[in-house]
Amino acid sequence: MKIRVDLGARGYDVHVGHGTRAQLASIIRERASRAKCAVIVTSPKLRALPWFDLVTGLETDVVEVPDGERAKTPETFVGLVETLAQRGLSRDDLVVAVGGGAITDLAGFAAASYLRGIDVLHVATSVAGQVDAAIGGKTGVNLVAGKNLLGAFHQPIAVVCDLDVLETLPPRDFRAGLGEVVKCALLEGLGAEELRLMSFEAQVELAISLKARVVSGDEREGSTRALLNYGHTLAHAMERASILQGHDDLRHGEAVAIGLAFAARLARALGRLDDAGVEVHDEMLASVQLPSRVPAQYDTADLLEAMSHDKKAHHDLTFVLAGPQGFSVVRGVDATLVRDELEHFRGES
Ligand code: GLY
Repeated sequence: MKIRVDLGARGYDVHVGHGTRAQLASIIRERASRAKCAVIVTSPKLRALPWFDLVTGLETDVVEVPDGERAKTPETFVGLVETLAQRGLSRDDLVVAVGGGAITDLAGFAAASYLRGIDVLHVATSVAGQVDAAIGGKTGVNLVAGKNLLGAFHQPIAVVCDLDVLETLPPRDFRAGLGEVVKCALLEGLGAEELRLMSFEAQVELAISLKARVVSGDEREGSTRALLNYGHTLAHAMERASILQGHDDLRHGEAVAIGLAFAARLARALGRLDDAGVEVHDEMLASVQLPSRVPAQYDTADLLEAMSHDKKAHHDLTFVLAGPQGFSVVRGVDATLVRDELEHFRGES
């Protein structure tokens, strides 16, 4: 199946289904007909997996970068761009990012910057990558001050989401990716039972279709795209704290899951959501066995500080929250209320 991201001349298809990686060479032929060389950017772990049988139809080099958030540093970015230059990639050539969200973010940013921008194609290998990160052209790396603070919008020429590849994911990583699926189900107004009755393929299609539709209408997050950050204010704060604490054992999707549960409680405290609405969040997260409590290692004061520096904030505390008229970006949420709700949330059994 192909799902279109409709951005005029920068538009592209997301190829989703079982075995879609076999279409890579024909997609490249169609979308990058002048390319002679490709550099595949991936991690050693992914390269060793049985499905790593990718054929680009071009002269191809493979460049390895670290797994996970460790890939998303300014140092790795500069190293990667230097490598593209050493391999002599021209303006007509191509970067093929093969990995989860961290690798597509890094490789996308390298492609956005090298020679002021060359083509990139994403082969997304994680659930969160397939339903979210690889689509929409957000690329970048982290700074000490926060997640994704150095980056660019750079749309890929195509996204390949091969569902077979997900079979090799460790169960925890697979589950974590469902955090983004739950986010999309909530944004689409689904109930817990409706999500539970959907096949995994249908859940992925729902999430990709939502992402493609939202990005098509608001490429650079001037309005509705910001809603895709539902759950991300607290998620990014926990991820930033993890980076500062020197570990990255919280998966992005797990952080999003916890952020969704908290956003529901904050919306309730602001009179925007009732108990039943909070319950829908909890039930959905429980049905896919995702965590919904802040791990003890994070300090409330550190999380508050990090949330006020989230790049979506405007010198204040900003959250995407459910409300009677649907979801909206709520700015200037009172810091004392957020702290009290966070403390209360942490104390829930
Ligand atoms: N991950 C949210 C977005 O791409 O806008």
